[in-house]
Amino acid sequence: MLSKSSILAALTFASSALGEFCSTTCTTAEVPTGTPVAGDYDGYLRPQVHFSPPKGFMNDPNGLHRGDDGIWHLYYQYNPTDTVAGNQHWGHATSEDLYTWTNQPIALYPVNASSYIFTGSAVVDENNTSGFFPNQTNGVVAIYTIATYEPIQLQTQGIAYSRDGGYTFTPYDGNPVLDEGSPEFRDPKVIWYEDHWVMVVAFSQEFVMTIYTSKDLKEWTFASNFTRHGLLGEQYECPNLVRIPVDGEPGQYEWMMFVSINPGAPLGGSGSWYTLGDFDGYTFTPHTAEIHIPDWGKDAYAAQFFENTPGEAILINWASNWQYTNAVPTGPKEEFRSAMGQARRISIKEDPRLGPIAASEPYDMSPILGEELASDTFGNGSVVIDFADVYSNALMIEVNVTDLDVVAGSVNFTFLSPISGEYLTGGVLFNGNNDVWLDRSHIKGFEYPLFTGKLSTAQIIEDRFTMQVVFDRAIIETYIQGGLQASTSSFFPEEPLTILSVKAGGYGSGNVTTSVRVHALESTWRPQENSNGIVRGASVGNSTSRYDARQLSGGRFSR
Ligand SMILES: *[C@@H]1O[C@H](CO)[C@@H](O)[C@H](O)[C@H]1NC(C)=O
Ligand SMILES: *[C@@H]1O[C@H](CO)[C@@H](O)[C@H](O)[C@H]1NC(C)=O
Ligand SMILES: *[C@@H]1O[C@H](CO)[C@@H](O)[C@H](O)[C@H]1NC(C)=O
Ligand SMILES: *[C@@H]1O[C@H](CO)[C@@H](O)[C@H](O)[C@H]1NC(C)=O
Ligand SMILES: *[C@@H]1O[C@H](CO)[C@@H](O)[C@H](O)[C@H]1NC(C)=O
Ligand SMILES: *[C@@H]1O[C@H](CO)[C@@H](O)[C@H](O)[C@H]1NC(C)=O
Ligand SMILES: *[C@@H]1O[C@H](CO)[C@@H](O)[C@H](O)[C@H]1NC(C)=O
Ligand SMILES: *[C@@H]1O[C@H](CO)[C@@H](O)[C@H](O)[C@H]1NC(C)=O
Ligand SMILES: *[C@@H]1O[C@H](CO)[C@@H](O)[C@H](O)[C@H]1NC(C)=O
Ligand SMILES: *[C@@H]1O[C@H](CO)[C@@H](O)[C@H](O)[C@H]1NC(C)=O
Repeated sequence: MLSKSSILAALTFASSALGEFCSTTCTTAEVPTGTPVAGDYDGYLRPQVHFSPPKGFMNDPNGLHRGDDGIWHLYYQYNPTDTVAGNQHWGHATSEDLYTWTNQPIALYPVNASSYIFTGSAVVDENNTSGFFPNQTNGVVAIYTIATYEPIQLQTQGIAYSRDGGYTFTPYDGNPVLDEGSPEFRDPKVIWYEDHWVMVVAFSQEFVMTIYTSKDLKEWTFASNFTRHGLLGEQYECPNLVRIPVDGEPGQYEWMMFVSINPGAPLGGSGSWYTLGDFDGYTFTPHTAEIHIPDWGKDAYAAQFFENTPGEAILINWASNWQYTNAVPTGPKEEFRSAMGQARRISIKEDPRLGPIAASEPYDMSPILGEELASDTFGNGSVVIDFADVYSNALMIEVNVTDLDVVAGSVNFTFLSPISGEYLTGGVLFNGNNDVWLDRSHIKGFEYPLFTGKLSTAQIIEDRFTMQVVFDRAIIETYIQGGLQASTSSFFPEEPLTILSVKAGGYGSGNVTTSVRVHALESTWRPQENSNGIVRGASVGNSTSRYDARQLSGGRFSR
């Protein structure tokens, strides 16, 4: 999906970037086919345990699924020719652990100069329901919005199939498969329900999430509308209808409708909410009118859940916000914008006051967990670490506070650059509400009126508080109370932040115990660098003829 201003940018590209007309696969010399875009993943704004595109601009995660060989596939809204939104393609990367990503060739291209491939999803058609996959069980079908601007703005849904497990796709010649004549009808998310496919798709400006069903992914039948629920914002986008397991109760689950809204989120710009309910294969019925905001940061949007993960619900957010995504620093040499949030495992947990809610926890971090840098337990006290020699400049912090028998005290963390003096800080105030906060306003690399500096939430707790923080050069995520609350925040320092302090105190009783542990995280990109420091991505075709993204800077759309 795209905001209106981005659509204008896309329109500009439609007329300038793609030339007159392309027959089946529309590309220019600047958009590589059949080979990954290469990228420089070294700069200090480049996250090391998160996905970011090799070059160019990225927004929504698309087509998330786990292949029948266990490989995780991440596609994403991708502008390969500029560092602002527009010229939308589906970029692609694969992973075995959801942290170490291998860049793959671009997976979906616009079919002609006046259409774009917007957000969508992908399914594994193991039973050949579509008929695209004789004699194979690993066929992948992508379902996405085709956005056209000529002669009028129209958004329809199309499909493309992949016979090589999701690497290359052929658009279906019967596209579009769903055309309601609407200019604002997008972001289809398809799941398998017992004996049929279910699509949830947004009539964005009518505030309707519509459910369609299909036997073959080609013919879709209207099932129901879920209309004007919760927080409208100015548009509904990127709906997900998903089964969420109940923590600690195997086989139990709740259905969730998850919606992204933009603009008009409570903190400004882009945000999301969900509601829990029942689903019978045709109609979603919320349990109550209540909605929940899953992330208290400003940089978690367009989340999509992975398909084909039986018994698990795992999502990835786009870690940015349309209010400022086109304006944030690209870094001195990287020429990329945006990162994805960390993969999160979602489960239903009991909040002490709210009851059942969807908790977010980091997906298993053991593949990236590096050296333990500190581990300490105290009442009042602090841990200070200079981690300038941690190559990744990425850390994981765990803080547990137990026997909280008084309403007093606080825990703070601060990441500081000793060179520029800028710092990122946050923590929790045990004041009864347990206000959890983050302050990015002392970071100097990006000033913008809409780039909110101070963020906070509150969490009712009993006598124990837990916080996990994942810090990765230019993105910070928090997980509070086993994931009852989570946040995603981007930040753009002028210099790397290399000193960490964690301070606890003011408890006013000798019973409170604070445990702090800090781990370095291992860079997932550095091992992929060649001798020139460039990550070239999956090895496909003839290496000597591989596209070199650095050519982009001399290309037609260089900035
Ligand atoms: C471009 O493709 C779209 C989507 O298939 C189609 O609606 C439109 O007519 C095509 N435009 C041209 C100029 O062929
Ligand atoms: C495939 O077929 C099996 C056996 O009928 C069924 O249990 C399963 O739900 C089907 N899955 C899909 C995605 O078609
Ligand atoms: C897959 O579907 C197509 C079209 O219905 C059919 O021709 C083909 O035989 C099917 N393959 C298998 C293995 O079922
Ligand atoms: C599918 O397998 C059957 C049986 O082995 C074979 O006869 C048929 O030619 C195969 N079809 C395709 C399209 O490979
Ligand atoms: C569902 O919502 C769409 C979009 O607003 C509307 O066109 C359609 O008539 C609705 N269908 C029903 C049965 O209400
Ligand atoms: C923290 O310090 C205060 C003031 O010195 C003291 O009253 C309190 O007992 C201490 N708390 C812990 C947990 O050590
Ligand atoms: C701290 O623990 C002691 C021993 O269990 C208890 O007597 C005291 O009341 C506790 N303090 C507070 C403030 O609860
Ligand atoms: C944490 O920061 C807050 C706000 O600056 C301050 O009031 C509090 O004393 C700090 N706590 C500790 C333990 O340093
Ligand atoms: C915090 O508590 C969790 C269990 O809730 C435990 O797994 C973790 O090791 C603890 N961390 C620290 C630093 O005590
Ligand atoms: C790869 O490219 C080199 C240099 O152009 C050429 O000599 C070689 O034959 C190519 N190999 C293949 C397998 O295409």
